[in-house]
Amino acid sequence: PQSVRIACLKFRGLSAIVAREEQVSKPDETGSESCSSRRTFIKVQEERQQQAKHTVLISCPPKINEKKFLKYLSQHGTINTHFFYESFGTHAVVEFSKLDSVESLFSRASIPVIKEDCVVPFKSRLFTIKSTTSFEQAANQKPVGCQKQSTIPINELIAKLSSAENIEEQLFCLVDEYQLTEENTRLRFLVSSLINDVVSAYFPESTVKPFGSTVNSFGKLGCDLDLFLDLDDIRKSAIGKLPGPFSVEFQMKRVSSGRVATQNILSVIGECIDNFGPGCVGVQKILNARCPLVRFSHQPAGFQCDLTANNRIAMRSSELLYIYGNLDSRVRALVFSVRCWARVHGITSSIPGAWISNFSLTMMVLFFLQKRTPPIIPSLNHLKDLADAEDVHIIDDNDCTFVSDINKIKASKNTETLGVLLSEFFEFYGNFAFNKNMINIRTGKEQNKPEPSPLYIQNPFESILNVSKNVNQTQLERFVALARDIFPTSTSALRSPQEAAAAGAAPDAREGSERGVSDPCWAQVLDGDSEASPYLRPRAATAEKIAKPFDALRP
Ligand code: GTP
Ligand code: MG
Repeated sequence: PQSVRIACLKFRGLSAIVAREEQVSKPDETGSESCSSRRTFIKVQEERQQQAKHTVLISCPPKINEKKFLKYLSQHGTINTHFFYESFGTHAVVEFSKLDSVESLFSRASIPVIKEDCVVPFKSRLFTIKSTTSFEQAANQKPVGCQKQSTIPINELIAKLSSAENIEEQLFCLVDEYQLTEENTRLRFLVSSLINDVVSAYFPESTVKPFGSTVNSFGKLGCDLDLFLDLDDIRKSAIGKLPGPFSVEFQMKRVSSGRVATQNILSVIGECIDNFGPGCVGVQKILNARCPLVRFSHQPAGFQCDLTANNRIAMRSSELLYIYGNLDSRVRALVFSVRCWARVHGITSSIPGAWISNFSLTMMVLFFLQKRTPPIIPSLNHLKDLADAEDVHIIDDNDCTFVSDINKIKASKNTETLGVLLSEFFEFYGNFAFNKNMINIRTGKEQNKPEPSPLYIQNPFESILNVSKNVNQTQLERFVALARDIFPTSTSALRSPQEAAAAGAAPDAREGSERGVSDPCWAQVLDGDSEASPYLRPRAATAEKIAKPFDALRP
């Protein structure tokens, strides 16, 4: 598990990010876009949601005859696209061009009769092929091709990275391997739409939308599916009309606070999903969390889903990250790589705890990119300055305004390579005065932290909150130790003199520093013997020490 270390160690020189950007000229799978066709986040989301409404999920027998299968479905209407994947058996995702086709399919589908159990007749766009003989494959035919829904194992990834030419190529290769595929994204939006069907049985005008890494351009295959129940659409439908003398009595009774209302709604929805949600298993209601949620697994899709309500700020955070992720191809490459490095070193975990979350880590990368000279991405305040009237969003008195049109944001003049950025990232955080300063992507500047949490990352929209409040001193120290561990090889031994100069570095001075975990100074830091910046403790290292691990891993 040393993928990023290898990435650093293999570095052999400068390479052209520009060339790479030209190659990636089509919208990629996550809805992440090239410079030439950068649609707004809202537009991408709406298109995906519409697609999902026309889409069905079909559980298939293992040896399905694709031709016969498509021929039958075509009787119900034109098929826009389809694909197969494996998750507890073979499944097909089929998108029709018209909504009527789904109705037509329903009209010919039967409700299963199970002898001893009683079936709840809840209609869903999740179908099973009853008669396997209708679509049977000839003995000599190849099985249908299934689209991958998970990442390759780490050893295979490392093998791929090892054959890349340079760090740039390695980091982009990592993104290619890890990012959500077009098919996986479609499946995520389909699951969201299926949950929407369950929820709208109770709240017909509400909508369920994906947020978080499914849509923010930083999603990795296998990441959870964060769903947001938007009840505000109910209010929106009344906007612009003159109110009459009646007011609607909602099914929900009046309660003491918004939080209680959210808990009640999620409790009911949790019951619905548990009792009637086809394919939904292991439903847990986690209603006392800071952000109440219903967690479940969507078995046929293979996703863990977290459904929250009244979480509009998180939706804005997703849009903000999407904008940053689409501004410059180096942003996603660096976030993916740092997240991967953190995961293989146990800095992040899928289990909640005192560790740094992926979201916090993303904020740290963004802040680092804002701090480059010239900055690679602008501060949130700058994005706010570029906003026009329709971008104004005030949510619960919090100003969540920023420009939504990426085309209005000037490209950065910074030409640093990913090789430089990766090593500088580790150096930056290996030396960051965490004891004194906080990370703030709104200003793009370090500021004094208002309270002594070990890691303070100001929530970009709720400025009194710390995104990383859960992180304890030990976890922060592990992060810093590992960042410093990578530093000696990454910064000095691997960088060409041109790159070092481009990064504003004094290569000779840097070559003389090493901050390994075994450093006696480091032990003092762990003991809390700190000065203004306890992490800034360079120690002289011999040239051999730096060169040895590099040579051992050099291809
Ligand atoms: P992965 O699921 O790990 O791939 O990343 P993610 O970005 O989806 O993170 P997660 O599922 O933990 O959270 C979903 C979204 O909720 C994030 O993208 C954020 O928008 C938001 N979120 C998560 N944690 C926090 C937090 O501590 N503070 C705030 N303000 N928002 C958070
Ligand atoms: Mg998530």
